[in-house]
Amino acid sequence: MITLKSAREIKQMHEAGKLLASCHKEIKKLIKPGISTLEIDSFVEAYLRKNGATAEQKGYKGYQYATCASVNDEICHGFPKKEPLRNGDIVTIDMVVNLDGGLADSAWSYGVGRISARARKLLTVAEKCLYKGIEKTVAGGKISDIGIAIQPYAESEGFSVVRDFAGHGIGPSIHESPQVLHFITPFRGATLKEGMVLTIEPMINEGTPFCRIEENGWTATTLDGKLSAQFEHTIAITKNGPLILTLQ
Ligand code: MF3
Ligand code: CO
Repeated sequence: MITLKSAREIKQMHEAGKLLASCHKEIKKLIKPGISTLEIDSFVEAYLRKNGATAEQKGYKGYQYATCASVNDEICHGFPKKEPLRNGDIVTIDMVVNLDGGLADSAWSYGVGRISARARKLLTVAEKCLYKGIEKTVAGGKISDIGIAIQPYAESEGFSVVRDFAGHGIGPSIHESPQVLHFITPFRGATLKEGMVLTIEPMINEGTPFCRIEENGWTATTLDGKLSAQFEHTIAITKNGPLILTLQ
C-alpha cells in the first residue's frame, strides 16, 4: 500500500532533508586523498547528533554504520573502512537522517582529488539521470515514467543502469511502497499522487549493470570491476510538482 503523507509530515521530512543536505556540503569539503570513509562516518554521526538528529541506517536490519560508503566498483551498501581514500577514487556516501521522526534519504558521489575524465563523465551522467527521473515525479504520471526517462539517457552516454536495487517510498520507515525502478519494464505501475514521498537513486555503471554481493552480505560490487556512481534525492510530490526535500 502506498501511503500519502500530510503537509505536516512532509514539512518534518523536509527539515530532515535540509539537515542531510547541509551534511553532504560538509562531506564535500572533507573528501580528499588520505581521509578514510570510517572518519567520514564518524563525522556524520557526530554532525547529526549535534543537530538533534540520528542516523536511521545504524541498526537497520543489522547494518552497523551511520553511512554507506561505496568506493569505485562498489555500487551500494559499502561499509565505511579504515583505509584512506586515494587520489582518483570515486566514493558514494549514502545516509538516512531521522529528525524528530521525519526521515530523508540522500546519496551523493564524490571524486577524490583529481579523477579521470571517464570517472568525471560517469559522475556527470549519473547526476543527470537523477534529475531526469525527478522531472517525471509529478502527480498524474506513472511510476514507470521514471525508468523510461533514465535508462535510454544513461545508455546513450555509454553507461548502464543497475537493475538489482530500486528507489522506494519513504515515511515513518526507510523502505515503503512503491519500488521505484530506474529502468524500463513492461509495467506502467502506480499512478503518482500528491502526498507521495519517494527516493530516486539510480546507480549508473561504467560497464556491465550486473553485480555480486560481497561476503559481508551487504555490499554490491560491479561484476566487471568497473566504476559505479549514484546520486539520490528524497522527493515529495506536491501540487506544484516535485519538491526535492534533500536539495543541497
Ligand atoms: N539509503 C539506502 C537507500 O537509499 C538505504 C540503505 S539501508 C542500510 O535505500 F541499512 F542498508 F544502509
Ligand atoms: Co539512500
